[in-house]
Amino acid sequence: MLASVDGAIGPAEQARVPITDEGLLRGDGAFEGLRLYSGRPFGLGEHLERLRSTTAGLRLEYDESALSHEISRLLEAAGPVDGVLRIVLTRGGRRILFVEPLPHRPRIARVGTVRYAPNRITEGLKTISYAANDLARRLAHEQGFDDALLVTPHGRVLEGATSAFFWVRDGRLRTPPLEDRILESVTRAKLIAVAGADEEVCTLDTLHGAEEAFLASSVREVQPVAAIDDLQLPAAPGPVTLRAHEALRQAIEAEIG
Ligand SMILES: Cc1ncc(COP(=O)(O)O)c(C=O)c1O
Repeated sequence: MLASVDGAIGPAEQARVPITDEGLLRGDGAFEGLRLYSGRPFGLGEHLERLRSTTAGLRLEYDESALSHEISRLLEAAGPVDGVLRIVLTRGGRRILFVEPLPHRPRIARVGTVRYAPNRITEGLKTISYAANDLARRLAHEQGFDDALLVTPHGRVLEGATSAFFWVRDGRLRTPPLEDRILESVTRAKLIAVAGADEEVCTLDTLHGAEEAFLASSVREVQPVAAIDDLQLPAAPGPVTLRAHEALRQAIEAEIG
């Protein structure tokens, strides 16, 4: 695994940041994770745009042109890998990049709901404070599920711990609206553009009428959901999920060539 810290490239295990960095001490910083297909990044422009918006929200300054240059140099050094490019900007001023292998995930997920309330002040910002998201996933694992589905105390279904959520009813693809304070996922926006999806409030009751559901993110693309708590979905993957994934694949092919 290769890393770059402020432009110095080397093995990730040997990369170091000072322990006084508030990125480490307080989870204060911004990050992005995007897919590399044979070394080519998908949606880099959109991810850099979201990074810009996260850093503006956090009042975190960084050198954009140095970051772009360092991304190009790291991708060149990494070669034609299939993996994930992670970009982290810390309050201490570090620009951290690394190329990591794809995580192992089941092809089809069973998800457990976890009560979660989005934090108003960091709403829509992709900060490195992910302890709550990771805990949600851990709690779901403890219950024997593959992943967590975040649901507000009022029963509004939001998103996965690190993914957007889609469901199908009456043959139509649907996804919760951004107004529900979910992350503006790059994959979600692509899927809405290429597969068509209605933005619609989702409750746990709504899901009882669902025909299909899936999680979506840059790293996993589309991951069909077979069960939500003790509710078994009729098909995983169902036809709408397969069509949406195929449309996303074509968008990826078209961009990376
Ligand atoms: C909370 C959350 N929602 C959604 C996503 C999916 O976002 P994207 O499609 O930009 O990868 C992520 C990705 O990490 C996430 O952490």
